[in-house]
Amino acid sequence: MLDNNIVQHYTRQDLGDVILAALGKAGKDVNNLKPEDLAPIDEFHVRGRKATIELACEAGLGPDMHVLDVGSGIGGPSRYIAHEFGCRVTGIDLTDEYCKVAQMLALRIGLSNLVTFQQGDARALPFPDSTFDVVWTQHAAINISDKATIYREMFRVLKNGGTLAIYDILAGSVSPIHFPVPWACRPEDSHLVSTEELRPLLEKSGFIIKSWKDTTDIALAWFTNVSKKIQQSGLTPLGIHVLLGADFKAMAQNQRKNLEEGRIALAQIVAKKCCAS
Ligand SMILES: C[S@@+](CC[C@H](N)C(=O)[O-])C[C@H]1O[C@@H](n2cnc3c(N)ncnc32)[C@H](O)[C@@H]1O
Repeated sequence: MLDNNIVQHYTRQDLGDVILAALGKAGKDVNNLKPEDLAPIDEFHVRGRKATIELACEAGLGPDMHVLDVGSGIGGPSRYIAHEFGCRVTGIDLTDEYCKVAQMLALRIGLSNLVTFQQGDARALPFPDSTFDVVWTQHAAINISDKATIYREMFRVLKNGGTLAIYDILAGSVSPIHFPVPWACRPEDSHLVSTEELRPLLEKSGFIIKSWKDTTDIALAWFTNVSKKIQQSGLTPLGIHVLLGADFKAMAQNQRKNLEEGRIALAQIVAKKCCAS
């Protein structure tokens, strides 16, 4: 069931060392790292940490909650919500290299008591029914064609009354999208659904939608601002470009173009699992 193209797309050899070197170059003390030191590099989604903070507030996170981060990447959002809200977080990701880096960074900032990462597939979550208070997912479903299965799985592992928190890229009104983009170099690895498709998918899986925010315009303003900064001062040592390597420039340009031309949209969604007992 492992999707080698997706794993290959994200895997970068010795990524942990590459990240530590970038942190050092940016003047951070790698032996005394704080969660905020990592923020420019470990939030692999549009609008980075800001978007994570907004989703966390909307989802109503609190201490003692057990959160599952599906497609946890190198773990920035998981570490942030554990550190800020005192949640226990389990991250699961298809890319083994990302899970190893995520765990290494958690250890370095002293959060390995609250956060753990394991390799696994969102289409077959390796957890019993009703395990988590919150299922959290940002920019991971964009790589997965079988949406019905992933939302069914998320519903299954949530406790009754639990919360699903989603921040995702959706299909816009114009297609196709320009490639490469940060999540895929070719159309076969990109699976976007529109707002009109996602809403019934979630409802059919059993979720009750509590809030739905279209954040496309804020995302475009953010991209315009980031592009301007890069044009003026070049790339800083720390940034998502460290994860994406040589194709970063083309990916970032396409991402902005896709937004400007209405080919992609951004949404923050919070839904509940409420079953009659
Ligand atoms: C763009 S990154 C987002 C990472 C993280 N959620 C964040 O926002 O920082 C997408 C992640 O989804 C993961 N992913 C893709 N398909 C997956 C699947 N079927 N199951 C679990 N993770 C998957 C990738 O390995 C990658 O780490």
